[in-house]
Amino acid sequence: MNALTGSDIVTLKGFERADLELVFQVAEEMEPIARARRRSDLLADKILGTLFYQVSTRTRLSFESAMQRLGGGVLGFADPKTVRAGDYFQESLHDTVRVVESYADVLVIRHPRAGAPAEAARHAGVPVINGGDGYNEHPTQALLDLYTMRREKGSLDGLTVALVGDMNMRVMHSLPLALARYETKVFFVSPSDRTMPADWKVELDRVALDYEERTTLDDVLPETDVVYIVETITPSFEVGRVEQTTEKESTPSTYVFDRKKLAMAKPGVLVLHPLPRTDELPGEIDPTGAAGYFAQAFYGVPVRMALLALVLGRAPSMERRS
Ligand code: CP
Repeated sequence: MNALTGSDIVTLKGFERADLELVFQVAEEMEPIARARRRSDLLADKILGTLFYQVSTRTRLSFESAMQRLGGGVLGFADPKTVRAGDYFQESLHDTVRVVESYADVLVIRHPRAGAPAEAARHAGVPVINGGDGYNEHPTQALLDLYTMRREKGSLDGLTVALVGDMNMRVMHSLPLALARYETKVFFVSPSDRTMPADWKVELDRVALDYEERTTLDDVLPETDVVYIVETITPSFEVGRVEQTTEKESTPSTYVFDRKKLAMAKPGVLVLHPLPRTDELPGEIDPTGAAGYFAQAFYGVPVRMALLALVLGRAPSMERRS
């Protein structure tokens, strides 16, 4: 047993610093396996179910990689149109979960509707992990983001982090909830019509996050250790690229991190992005030492290995300590 054995991970509300540290310690143990592209047999008798009602590259594939690195099996769907949830029957989330829980030992669910993974967790007898729900939360993304900052900057305490872009994006809710558990200073940098929603400010005040809202990135760059950038032009979580008919807008330059911004930034700045990106993070940053986003995508594997091992009660060193 460990503190997360049997838990659902649908939100980072209520996730304490000790819970975060537990995930990071186990992720550090998992990282050599992922880095060496090895396979362990830790979860050889377990199966992961991936129920993706929305498209994904990183979340779904890194969860699948994580389970396979731990010797387990994977089943699921990447598009509800390929199963009964998306055909004539429009099978309910309740029925889908009640069925798939008998095929798998842990479920990861991505859904366009806020609260769907929490609803699934109420029906499921196995742990449910939120792979991103609407404009609500993306808890495992935030966990891997913090792990990346910790690995790349050495410590989370003392960091100044600028979150840049549309504050309606789901990761912009989970990430500050987690940053609040450390001694961090956070700037929310967004256009005035894409600021942090009022209900999320209530949550962030509740966890005593030290934050300020700004409308331009330039002012905060000299004191920022980590620039975490997302889209400013909000994508629809429900419309796929092939169905998109309207021309994409360009991101206003103050919310673009390019070489000009890099020249103004604090030396050693780390630039992160959950990906996929549009024009807010041009490729000219990729060859610079500031670019942390491909490492960030890799860290999704050890962090998700840790989460799977923890909720299934199989994190080796933690089990010995309990
Ligand atoms: N960062 C992230 O959630 O990427 P995907 O949408 O590709 O899973």
